[in-house]
Amino acid sequence: MRAQIVSTGLAVPERVLHNTDLEKMVDTSDQWIRDRTGMVERHVADNGVAASDLATAAARQALDGAGISAEDVDAILVATISGDYPWPATACLVQHKLGAKPVMAYDLSAACTGYLYGLSQASAFIESGKFKNILLIGVDMLTKTLDWTDRNTCVLFGDGAGATVIQAREGGEGVIDTILGADGSSAELLYQPAGGSRIPISAEAVEAGKHHLFMNGREIFKQAVRVMAQTIADLLQRSGKTADDVTVVIPHQANIRILEAVADRIGVGMDRFFINIHKYGNTSAATIPMALHEARQEGRLKTGDLAVMVSFGGGLTWGASLVQF
Ligand code: UT7
Repeated sequence: MRAQIVSTGLAVPERVLHNTDLEKMVDTSDQWIRDRTGMVERHVADNGVAASDLATAAARQALDGAGISAEDVDAILVATISGDYPWPATACLVQHKLGAKPVMAYDLSAACTGYLYGLSQASAFIESGKFKNILLIGVDMLTKTLDWTDRNTCVLFGDGAGATVIQAREGGEGVIDTILGADGSSAELLYQPAGGSRIPISAEAVEAGKHHLFMNGREIFKQAVRVMAQTIADLLQRSGKTADDVTVVIPHQANIRILEAVADRIGVGMDRFFINIHKYGNTSAATIPMALHEARQEGRLKTGDLAVMVSFGGGLTWGASLVQF
C-alpha cells in the first residue's frame, strides 16, 4: 500500500489586512514589506474564530474532493501551534465538528514544519496497513499571539488552514520519501515565551509581553536558506532523482527572498516554485497544505507529477517530502 494525497481543501478568515493597513498601525511601508518579504496581504481571524473553525471548513472541502464522508475517516492529525486551547487537541474538536467516528485524533507541534511531520506519520500508518483514509490538516492563527506594535513580527503572519485526505492506494508512488530534522539548541530564536510550564500566563508575564511571538528574523533567515537547500539536495540524492525530475516545489513561505536563495542553490528556477506568500503571508503549519491546494487548483500538479515540499521553522524544525501525484 502507498500513501497518496488524493484531495485538498483551504480555508482562511474573511478579513484581509493589506500592507497599507499595517502602515497605519506601525512604522512600516507597503514598499518595505513587499521588497523585504514578498507579502502584500494576509487574512486575520476576528475574535471568536478559532483554529478548529478553519480546520473543519478546510477538512470538509478535502473530504468532498476525495468523495468520502467524515464517517470514512480512520484518523485525524492536526499540525498546529495555535490550537483552540493549550489542550485538549484541536484534532478532537475537529472530529466532533465533522461528525466523524470516535477515531484517533491528535495534534502535533512542529511549527512551520508540522504538515511534513504529519505527512510522514500518516504515510507510515497507511503503509503499515492500519488505516485507509487519514485526514491531515495544517492550521495556524499566529495573529492571535502577535504584538501589533512590533513591526519586526506583526507584518509577517496570517491565519489559515489547509486540509488533505491521505489515502491508501495500490500502485503509484504517492509519498515516496521524507527527511525530517530538529535542533532545540536554537529554540529561542522563534518562540512564544509564556503560556507553557516554563513561564505560565500571569499578569507579570503579560505585562512583560512574554505571551507574544518572538523571532530573531535575521538568524532564522540564514539558517532557513542553508537547511532548506541542503534538505532538498539530500532528499533528491537519496531517491535517485535530480532537480530536473521535479515538476513543482511547494515551499513553506516565510519570505520570498529565502525562497529565491534556495531556488538558486538547488538550481531550480522560481517558475517551478509555487508561491502564494503575497496573498497569505506566513501561515505557519497551514502554508504547505494551502499552497498544495492552490497548486492543484491552478493545474500546476497533474497525475504523475513529482513535487517536493520543503519547510523550516520554529523548534528549530525542518523537512522535505518527495511526492508523486
Ligand atoms: O516561518 C518560520 C521561519 N521564519 C522565517 O523564516 C523568517 C526569516 N526572517 C525574515 O524573513 C527576515 O529576517 C525579516 C523579514 C523578519 C526581516 O528582514 P531583514 O531584511 O532580515 O531585516 P532586518 O531584521 O535585518 O532589519 C533591517 C531593518 C532594521 O532597521 P535598522 O536597524 O537597519 O535601522 C529593522 O528595524 O529593517 C527594519 N524593519 C522594518 N522596517 C520597516 C524591520 N521590520 C520592518 C518593517 N518595516 N516591518
